Amino acid sequence: MARVALANQRVSAHATVTAAGVYKSYRLDGEPLPVLEDVSFEIGSGEFVSFVGPSGSGKSTLLNLLAGLEEPDRGRITISGSTDRLGHAAYMPQKDLLLPWRSALDNAVLGMEVHGVPREDARHRAREMFEIAGLAGFERSLPAALSGGMRQRVAFLRTVLTPGSVMLLDEPFGALDSLTRSELQEWLMRMWERLSTTVVLVTHDVEEALLLSDRVYVMTRRPGRIKLVHEVGLPRPRSLEVLDSEEFVRSKSALLRAVRGEV
Ligand SMILES: Nc1ncnc2c1ncn2[C@@H]1O[C@H](COP(=O)(O)OP(=O)(O)OP(=O)(O)O)[C@@H](O)[C@H]1O
Ligand SMILES: [Mg+2]
Repeated sequence: MARVALANQRVSAHATVTAAGVYKSYRLDGEPLPVLEDVSFEIGSGEFVSFVGPSGSGKSTLLNLLAGLEEPDRGRITISGSTDRLGHAAYMPQKDLLLPWRSALDNAVLGMEVHGVPREDARHRAREMFEIAGLAGFERSLPAALSGGMRQRVAFLRTVLTPGSVMLLDEPFGALDSLTRSELQEWLMRMWERLSTTVVLVTHDVEEALLLSDRVYVMTRRPGRIKLVHEVGLPRPRSLEVLDSEEFVRSKSALLRAVRGEV
């Protein structure tokens, strides 16, 4: 399943992601709405980290900031040491944002196209991935003719096929049934093990965060602050069997308590 040629990932030796004292607020009815407060972290090159937290705690806002689509009110964010972040990360936003006039396959190749991968080459790579993602036969379908879960898988493929040394994933598997979800989680793990991509994943699913990550950050309710940093001690390479291990069960209950605000 994992034996697939991937796009030439632009692997930088220093694909670090850092935030230092980040504050962000929006305005609601003329009043400031603080969304993120004093958020700081350092993600090393090639690390896989997750952010979990209640709805509205600023997780998507954080990914927008990391991607460079928005700027913090205060504080500093860098990718590979630079605050100039636009174009450095492959970003899968929470909404699938497929182009409605492009076929599923042409949506999947978009990131590669933008980075100048030759069209036929890009389409060839994407076709192989359609098989893995259970989308074979739907290459020519327009997004409107796909289910929500299928659209999410197309958006996921587009992101993992986009060259880049940092991947930002916002609830990439949220709309999927548990079997498809497990398959894609495992596939993402295998792919990440072979590449030196740095991954920042936002998820509501504590199990998903633990299974995939080196480190899990738990956010408070809005305004989001980091309330807990959990280093995941599970050995690599991991498989779904790790879900039954004692360490996993213990970590999961600690994280759930933190997410629910019990600690
Ligand atoms: N562009 C915006 N303008 C105004 N308010 C915004 C904007 N984007 C987000 N917000 C507000 O910021 C807060 C955090 O939103 P955000 O989408 O980051 O939360 P989240 O943690 O991703 O939630 P969820 O888990 O539901 O996806 C919310 O109260 C939201 O209404
Ligand atoms: Mg969100």
